[in-house]
Amino acid sequence: MSEHTARIGLETGPYDTEVLQASVGNQGIDVRKLRPQTGYVTFDPGFANTAIAKSSITYIDGAAGQLLHRGYGIEDIAMNVSFLEVSYLLLYGKLPNVAELDAWNADISSHTMLNEEMRSFFDAFPRRAHPMAVLASATYAISTFYDVYRRPTRKQEIDAGARTLLAKMPTIAAWAYKKSIGEPYVYPNNDYSYVENFLHMMFSRPTEDLPIDPVIVKALNVLLILHADHEMNCSTATVRSVGSSRANMFASVAAGMGALWGPLHGGANQAVIEQLQAIHDDPDATIQSTIERAKDKNDEFRLMGFGHRVYTNYDPRAKVLAAFAQDVLDRMAMSDPLLDIARELEAAALADDYFVERKLFPNVDFYSGIIFRALGFPQRMFTVLFAIGRLPGWIAHWMEMNNDPDTRIMRPRQLYVGETARDYVPLDQR
Ligand code: CMC
Repeated sequence: MSEHTARIGLETGPYDTEVLQASVGNQGIDVRKLRPQTGYVTFDPGFANTAIAKSSITYIDGAAGQLLHRGYGIEDIAMNVSFLEVSYLLLYGKLPNVAELDAWNADISSHTMLNEEMRSFFDAFPRRAHPMAVLASATYAISTFYDVYRRPTRKQEIDAGARTLLAKMPTIAAWAYKKSIGEPYVYPNNDYSYVENFLHMMFSRPTEDLPIDPVIVKALNVLLILHADHEMNCSTATVRSVGSSRANMFASVAAGMGALWGPLHGGANQAVIEQLQAIHDDPDATIQSTIERAKDKNDEFRLMGFGHRVYTNYDPRAKVLAAFAQDVLDRMAMSDPLLDIARELEAAALADDYFVERKLFPNVDFYSGIIFRALGFPQRMFTVLFAIGRLPGWIAHWMEMNNDPDTRIMRPRQLYVGETARDYVPLDQR
């Protein structure tokens, strides 16, 4: 057997197949013909060992704690470029030059307004509605203004869909927030950059314009970039799964938002702050009791913002954020007792055998909420901020999936363990 082939020994005989080469990282055993040729399927709940596609967008080396977007290290791009530049990089595979970036910024800013009829859509939600529910619903709703019922096929249409989603998402998010606090919606102002505009729509009022603080703009840019893509995470796999049925980009992205909202995924950023706040407020919830609860296998409680499917080392995004949190607080001349609690909790966890043996480290959600809080965002908006950040990643994966000749409708198999065929029993005899 050559180094590019693999053999699986089965009762019925060997299954010989190709080993698919990655440019770096795990090589893949091609099992596409396994079931038709042998009658066996692979069993892999959570797809922990299954590559669902070949991709050239993002690479993670979990053991080294390395994250690359189109080959660029996250530490470099987070600090040196704008969120829209990173979005362009993810979607189109290269950093834009000056002319391309000017055109891209102008294109996005000229599409930030929502159709005026969307006002009544926001009005219809109860004030207590969680902004993630409003965000996902509005993502579906804006598609109705463009008649995008089917998957677009022409590049021009696909690019227009991407631009619409990227341009309008901050407006949708800010309006969902304004609705929740009973304030008038603020319209976008295209004199502002992408991030400035979002802050303006979130925090300005018809009576007073928010002064735009460059420290906040920089911090939010960094945060959005750190969330921009993470290869086949749960929400991105959802976007690809829905898109594989040839559903349109809006429907696929809205489904991804549903996946992101869960507390094991993007919902963790809100849950982390709730956990830190409990340690701060509740005398029974100490650092040690929180660690002990997280280790208790009879309790489904987990240390939120800790652990990751891919990283067995410090998440590089968390590394940037741990340092950045203090920097942002210093620049804003603020302090936050939750940052001290987070540091103590991290130190206690990293010294505990349970976390050491399982290689559980802080992930991106551990420190992000502390910065979101310092920037003035309420907790219920944290996962919405993650969604705005992750949007270019979802779109880039949708585009890649859509162009990939290997794409087939996502339709896993199962190991059936239920009853085998039984005789029907009429109702009066059961
Ligand atoms: N607290 C306590 N124990 C944990 C934690 C945690 N946060 N994370 C993992 N473990 C334990 C888990 O109980 C298991 O132990 P054992 O081997 O004894 O059964 C072991 O570590 C492996 O965990 P797993 O659940 O099999 O790992 P997974 O890859 O299926 O789950 C995870 C990954 C992120 C869902 C999980 O680590 C977790 O629930 N973390 C807390 C939620 C969180 O912070 N989510 C954000 C993830 S990063 C950003 C994002 O993608 O949204």
